[in-house]
Amino acid sequence: MSYPYQIKSLEEYNSAYKKSVEDPEKFWADIAENFTWKNKWDKVLEWNFKEPKIKWFINGKLNITENCLDRWAESQPDTPAIIWEPNDPESHRRKFSYKELLLKVMQFANVLKNNNVKKGDRVCIYMPMVPELAIAVLACARIGAIHSVVFGGFSAQSIADRIQDAECSLVITADGAYRGNKTIPLKAIIDDALVRCDSVKKVIVLTRVRTPVSMIKGRDTWWEDEIQKVESEGNPYCAAEEMDAEDMLFILYTSGSTGKPKGVVHTCGGYMVYANYTFVNVFQYQPGDIFFCTADIGWITGHSYIVYGPLSAGATSLMFEGIPTWPDAGRFWDIVDKHKVNIIYTAPTAIRSLMAYGPDFIKDKNLGTLKVLGTVGEPINEEAWHWYHENIGKKKCPVVDTWWQTETGGIMISNLAGVTPQKPAHTTLPIPGIQPVLINEKGEIAEGNNTSGNLCIAFPWPGMLRTTYGDHERCRMNYFATYDNLYFTGDGCLRDENGFYRITGRVDDVLNVSGHRIGTAEVENAINMHTGVVESAVVGFPHAIKGLGIYAYVIFNGIHHDEDLTKQDISQTVARIIGAIAKPDKIQFVNGLPKTRSGKIMRRILRKIAEGETHNLGDTTALLDPAVVEEIQKGKL
Ligand code: WT7
Repeated sequence: MSYPYQIKSLEEYNSAYKKSVEDPEKFWADIAENFTWKNKWDKVLEWNFKEPKIKWFINGKLNITENCLDRWAESQPDTPAIIWEPNDPESHRRKFSYKELLLKVMQFANVLKNNNVKKGDRVCIYMPMVPELAIAVLACARIGAIHSVVFGGFSAQSIADRIQDAECSLVITADGAYRGNKTIPLKAIIDDALVRCDSVKKVIVLTRVRTPVSMIKGRDTWWEDEIQKVESEGNPYCAAEEMDAEDMLFILYTSGSTGKPKGVVHTCGGYMVYANYTFVNVFQYQPGDIFFCTADIGWITGHSYIVYGPLSAGATSLMFEGIPTWPDAGRFWDIVDKHKVNIIYTAPTAIRSLMAYGPDFIKDKNLGTLKVLGTVGEPINEEAWHWYHENIGKKKCPVVDTWWQTETGGIMISNLAGVTPQKPAHTTLPIPGIQPVLINEKGEIAEGNNTSGNLCIAFPWPGMLRTTYGDHERCRMNYFATYDNLYFTGDGCLRDENGFYRITGRVDDVLNVSGHRIGTAEVENAINMHTGVVESAVVGFPHAIKGLGIYAYVIFNGIHHDEDLTKQDISQTVARIIGAIAKPDKIQFVNGLPKTRSGKIMRRILRKIAEGETHNLGDTTALLDPAVVEEIQKGKL
């Protein structure tokens, strides 16, 4: 096996990039030729960013699982597709060859069919990081059901919102999940969510921790029993549903600056080509390499670089159930040693946290198999970059700093490992096919090098979102209405003297906390639901491990019996409404918030105070009541 479209040198990168801009349709068609299509496309691309309308590989027919499974089960049946490392290092690890994984996927696809799931139906998946999660995802794709994976850290309320928005008819979950030394009662959380989800007819429950769970007659059924049923039916085969390139493959919810999380929609053909192309090129994957992405499949990183990217490339994907710091802070390096990992892909927040535990946890680990290190999720500071490069990569492994988003489907700006230049804290150059543009404060395109602006993309790429589920106008407003004819990313960006890109962070009211995206408005709404809270304002502040922490200013007119307990109650409310990941790090009670005469909260000032700025709060002339600011500054935590 080889990848004819794998870029091998800087010259090849330059020529691929040039071709991708001069003739994007030919460029992507040549790559798409390397996949299994049931029917070729008649036209490569139709688009406008006004509506927006984006269509790739028009009238192309395929099933992504034939590309991820069948073709490899045929040509390399015994190659491991998924290697699974459990939470508990002492317990049994599992391996699935391509042949075995295909069988498991077909089997579970038949379970879904037995439970009346049809092409186009939405299925919510709320599961631990076990192989059955990947199997469930692929089984949906096999029969053309649209999966909506919800990360195991979200609350019942958040799940309910997502299930209702997509009108899911079936939920796949487990009794519980192991996470370090804790167990999380997944089924009980689903039960709470389902109190308000009429669309759900069936719940399939995998046994993982064997904690007691309620099982409702007619609705809830065990994974294992369902498998037994299809086994007794005696037909292990399940045909891959023929899908149009533009049929929906999945929905993944993500936060924005306003309102509830939106369901980002990806489609079958373009997403597959893009996840595969970026996987093969950014990480320079070679057949036989063990690829370890530490993300959870509940996030886009797991969708694209645990499941679809690696499997569509016939690669070996290592999937890990646990957390980086349990049983100790050497867990990742243990896994690298044990499984002879060649490529590791993780997040700056994990790197910073492991860095803080010191070098002892690396000392006795053999990291010599590593060839490439990757990072994603937030800007990586130079210190963390160097620590990763020196201590983990022993200065021999290129570090790929990969910038992208849930909406982009795959990596957009990144060096290609060992092929294009790297620079600490810089994502460097765009992937072929990606046309970045920086827009300055005047709304004009910032030309040339040594400049900065809001990062936009000027031309469609196959992996981009097509819509936000059930609300196309929201998609237009969010991404295509800020600037004419451009996709707006929400990120600020610098372009250095070499033309290398450096992402500076969000320019909207979205926080990036430990690489997770959280809307300030969402957190405020949750805080405001707590009894006694009148109003709140949430901003980010620099946090040594998380990148950004959450700082909440809260006007509270209830009775505090104990101020500290009230703060914990507020945090608990946020955990209930959104999930533990959105709990504020700091809560400051205030008597008023800085507002303009028209009543708009001046977050800019609150952000400065939270960042520790004492003098220069910027332009405060619009403030209605300057005394409010003084009071807030006095009470800063
Ligand atoms: C936001 C997207 C895409 C997978 C993980 C997060 C930030 C992502 C980088 C990077 C600087 C980065 C951006 C982006 N981001 N990667 N390498 N350098 N910032 O996905 O939840 O959709 O968040 O993460 O701010 O907009 P997401």
